[in-house]
Amino acid sequence: MTAAAALIALDAIADGAFAEVEAVVEGDADSLVLYRDGAQVRAFLNICPHAGRRLDWAPGQFLKSREGHLVCAAHGASFALDSGDCIAGPCKGDRLRAVPVDVRDGQVYLA
Ligand code: FES
Repeated sequence: MTAAAALIALDAIADGAFAEVEAVVEGDADSLVLYRDGAQVRAFLNICPHAGRRLDWAPGQFLKSREGHLVCAAHGASFALDSGDCIAGPCKGDRLRAVPVDVRDGQVYLA
């Protein structure tokens, strides 16, 4: 059995910043947004619940508001980074789909 490949090195994401990776989630290749918070990483599908667009304005380029929320580049929905909840914008009350990830030995893996 081969070990699952790492998605990305933790050090490749600046603290408080985002990265975009491709991963197979439940059999489908999906784009994920990763957010680093110190030694932790949270991951969500890179799909906005409003109109299904990608959240980044160019591959891997995500917007973060002054309040520290992820902002969808398409129509400006804002998401809390702890929960993925849409807290403002056209899909308020909806949420990003979280993808469980682990950090081990300085690498980020699907959990
Ligand atoms: S698709 Fe994200 S706010 Fe419309």
